[in-house]
Amino acid sequence: MQIAERPTSATIEHGLSASATRIITEGGTPLRGNLRIGGAKNAALPMMAAALLTDEPCTLENVPILADIYVMVDLLRRLGADVEFTPELHRVRIHARDITERTAPADLVERMRASFLVSGPILARTGEMTSPAPGGCKLGSRPVDVDVRGFKRMGANVFVGDGFYKMTASRLEGAEIYMDYPSHTGTENLLMAATLSRGVTTIVNAAAEPEIDALGKMLIEMGAKIEGLGTPYLRITGVERLHGFHTSILPDRLEAGTFAIGAVATGGEIVLENVNQRDMLPLTYKLREAGAEVWWGDSDMLVRAGKTLDSVEVQALPFPGFPTDLQAAFAVLLTQANGVSRIYERVFNDRLRYVDELAKMGARVQLVNNQEARFTGPTPLHGADVTALDIRSGACLILAGLVASGESRISEIKHVRRGYEDIVGKFASLGASIRYE
Ligand code: EPU
Repeated sequence: MQIAERPTSATIEHGLSASATRIITEGGTPLRGNLRIGGAKNAALPMMAAALLTDEPCTLENVPILADIYVMVDLLRRLGADVEFTPELHRVRIHARDITERTAPADLVERMRASFLVSGPILARTGEMTSPAPGGCKLGSRPVDVDVRGFKRMGANVFVGDGFYKMTASRLEGAEIYMDYPSHTGTENLLMAATLSRGVTTIVNAAAEPEIDALGKMLIEMGAKIEGLGTPYLRITGVERLHGFHTSILPDRLEAGTFAIGAVATGGEIVLENVNQRDMLPLTYKLREAGAEVWWGDSDMLVRAGKTLDSVEVQALPFPGFPTDLQAAFAVLLTQANGVSRIYERVFNDRLRYVDELAKMGARVQLVNNQEARFTGPTPLHGADVTALDIRSGACLILAGLVASGESRISEIKHVRRGYEDIVGKFASLGASIRYE
């Protein structure tokens, strides 16, 4: 599907932009053109951690070039793995012949919650793991109880110190695990740990995000025995050892979603290449409900703004509910919709703080409580100085800047760089007026 010839974006973000702290946008140009979607951050991180389960070499292709990937590369190296990262090829090779360090370094773990994903593999492979409680985006409470309780069920002794966990087990044992909440990374951690445990592990109320499905399929390629992928019931029969892998990372549904929403909010039309239709269904339905058109090819998605934009209600829920990671971007679209719209954030208890920044740009938005926001539209947005609070609120503010009249300056873009590869180049390739300061 081709709708316009545009230069492709420079896919690798290096040099100049790496030192930039602000993004400048000039709104008012509808997004138009074709864009190829990159590999999913939230699949790449657990897949990299999974390389610690085996002493054989592992290769990942289609790796997005992001700050969080660099953190995971550092973390794996500090734990003893040989890691060869080739950004030009979007490839990471990991060879964890030996795990030489069983304590995750605090300076890295505090930067990214996904760092805790090395705990399951190292505990399962070596019988010992110490990790600080992880940091990451501030979205409300983000415990790792689900993971820790699961490790305990599998026979690990867990000592909880002042801000850290020390876990030991001669060998993890299969167990019946019920997850109080279907935690995304919690499911991944327990799934990885169970592959090398003795006997059968069942996980009930598991999360079923597409990234978990992809991780599970890769573990099967490594020799793991897993049933129930994509459902809330997982059954894992432990094996003695796992082999290496050579896998390509699935398309990033959150990157695709951000651009799709941007096309509609700016009144444009884009084709996103390399997207999985099933992963995009929750967003597809809400875009259509708001009056936009969405058409599917084999792995392409055409998104076109409709004649009008209607108000809708969005509930952010675990997959296949509407992704919490896209509600902030969707909020920008709601500022342009006719009537009253609402977002209910049901996953995190404090992920709507960005509405104060949107209000600085003229959005008529009321925070009903920490998990509900009410938008009245359409409102003309105007340029302003605003601050990214986390990865997805940063993307939201960039979108708002592309809708707003005049110039916007978005600071703290280090957050955005954690989750979006070359976001400036990609928006520019779709005709947006956007640059690093
Ligand atoms: N929760 C518990 N107990 C736990 C763990 C989680 O109650 O032991 C609650 C949390 O308090 C939170 C909710 O469960 O309210 C969701 O947390 P979850 O553990 O599912 O999220 P996560 O694994 O920390 C991943 C993604 C997030 C994404 C969420 C929801 C990665 C690396 N991170 O986080 O991605 O928002 O799932 O889908 O996969 C992002 O990419 O910007 C991002 C934040």
